[in-house]
Amino acid sequence: MSQSIAENANTAMAAVRQLLGELPHRAYIATFGCQQNEADSEKLRGMAYEMGYEDAASPQDADLVLINTCAIREHAEQKVLSYLGTLKALKAEKPGLVIGVCGCMTAQEHRVNTLRERYPYVSFTLDPASLAAFPAALLDALEGGKRKFLQSGETPPVTEGLPTRRVERHRAWISIMYGCNNFCSYCIVPYVRGRERSRLSADIIREAEEVIAAGCREITLLGQNVNSYHGDCDFATLLDRIAALPGDFSVRFMTSHPKDVPDSLIAVMAKHRDKIAPHFHLPLQSGSDAILARMNRRYTRASYLETVRKLRESIPGIALSTDIIIGFPGETDEDFAATMEVLRTVRFDMIYSFLYSPRKGTPAANMEGQISPAVRSARMAELLDAQNEIALSLALPYVGKTLRVLADGKGKMPGTVTGRTPENRLVSFEAPESVIGEFVRVKIERAEPFVLRGVLAD
Ligand code: 5AD
Ligand code: SF4
Repeated sequence: MSQSIAENANTAMAAVRQLLGELPHRAYIATFGCQQNEADSEKLRGMAYEMGYEDAASPQDADLVLINTCAIREHAEQKVLSYLGTLKALKAEKPGLVIGVCGCMTAQEHRVNTLRERYPYVSFTLDPASLAAFPAALLDALEGGKRKFLQSGETPPVTEGLPTRRVERHRAWISIMYGCNNFCSYCIVPYVRGRERSRLSADIIREAEEVIAAGCREITLLGQNVNSYHGDCDFATLLDRIAALPGDFSVRFMTSHPKDVPDSLIAVMAKHRDKIAPHFHLPLQSGSDAILARMNRRYTRASYLETVRKLRESIPGIALSTDIIIGFPGETDEDFAATMEVLRTVRFDMIYSFLYSPRKGTPAANMEGQISPAVRSARMAELLDAQNEIALSLALPYVGKTLRVLADGKGKMPGTVTGRTPENRLVSFEAPESVIGEFVRVKIERAEPFVLRGVLAD
C-alpha cells in the first residue's frame, strides 16, 4: 500500500519536472507549529526539489508557496490566516504563483470551508496524512485543473520512500510514529492527525544510519506520543537499538505521555547515558487530579511525581521540561494552586505554558466553567514568575563549569554562537562560526534563567 503511494508520488513528480522543463523554479515553504510540522516540511521540500524547485528566500522570490499550518490553539490558526492574507496582493501581481496550504488546519472541515470561500487564490489543500499527494495536487494546479481540498481520513497508512531535504546537516528529525489515540479533552491533534500508526523499526534505523553517515550529530525521534510507539518492537527497544549505532551523535525524543513511561525505557536511558540525552519532556498540563481527570490524561499527580522520582533516581542530573495549560474549564484557585505546588516540587528546568484555547469539536470546548481572560492572565503571570526564579536557581550552579555543547547556530551578538547541552540547556558563547555543527566544550561565565553564557574552552 505505502509502496504504491510513494510510486504515485514519483510518477507525479516526474510529470511536474517534465512540465517545468529547464527553466529555474523556486519554492518557499512557511512552517508554523511543532517539530512534526518541521519534519513534514522537510519532506515537502524534498519533493519540491525532486520536481525542480530550488529554495526561494521569500514568497516574493517564489513560483510556489506552501504553508504548513498549525491548529493547536486559536492564536496559531489566526497567525496562519493573517499570513495567508499577506499573499493576496502577491498572487494578483504574479498570477502564475501557485499557493498550497497543508498541515493540521486543513484537516478541519470548517477551516477548509474558510479557505475555499475566503481565499480563492489557494490552489489546493492537503491534510497532514495526504503529504504524498502534494506532487499530484501541484501537477493539477499547474495544468489549470480545479482547486483540490484533500483529506485522507482517520487512519492513513505510513508512507515510506518519499524524498527528504533537511534544513540542517548536524541535526535531524526522524518521525517514528504519527497520530494520537489519547483524546485529551482539550486537544485537536487526534482529529487532525488521525489514529496512531508507527513506522517499522528497520526503516527508522536505516534513516538514522543514513543521517549519521552524512555527519548528523543529533537525532530527535519524533511523534505525538513516542512512548506508545508500536511498530515491530516497543519504544524502549527502538531507542536501545538506535543508541547502539556507532558514531559520535546523541539521541533525543519527543513528546512522551506521562502515563506510559515504563521502567524498561528508564533503564535504556540509564544504560546509554553517553548517547541518549539526559532530558525528558513530560507534559504535566495540570497538577490537580480533578482537572487531569477532566482532561482525560489518565495519570494522577502522585503517579506523575513517582515517574519523576524514578527518572531522577536512575539518571542523576536528568533535565525535566513540561507543558502546562492555564485556565482549563472549571479550573479553580485550588486547582491552580495544585499546579503551582507540583511546579515547586519538581523544579522543572524548562516549562512551556499555554492559555487554554477552546478547539471546535473537542469535548472541553463545550464544558461548563470557561475561565475569564483576566483570571487566566493573572494565573499565567504567577506561574511564569515562579518558574523564572526556579530556572535561575537551577542555572546558577553551572557558572564556572565546562560543558559539552552541540553548537547549532549563530548567536544574536556578533562573534557568538548558540548551542545546547545534553540536558537541552541553551548556551551562548564566543566562538567562530566554523564550530557550528560540532560538539565543543564551553566554559560557563554567567547564568540567566533561560541561557548560560560562556567562552570556548579549547
Ligand atoms: N489550549 C491550550 N494549550 C493546548 N495544548 C494542546 N491543546 C491545547 C489547547 N486547546 C498544549 C498542551 C500540549 C502542547 C503541545 O500544547 O500543553 O502538550
Ligand atoms: Fe493531544 Fe493528548 Fe495526543 Fe498530546 S497526547 S497530542 S495532548 S491528545
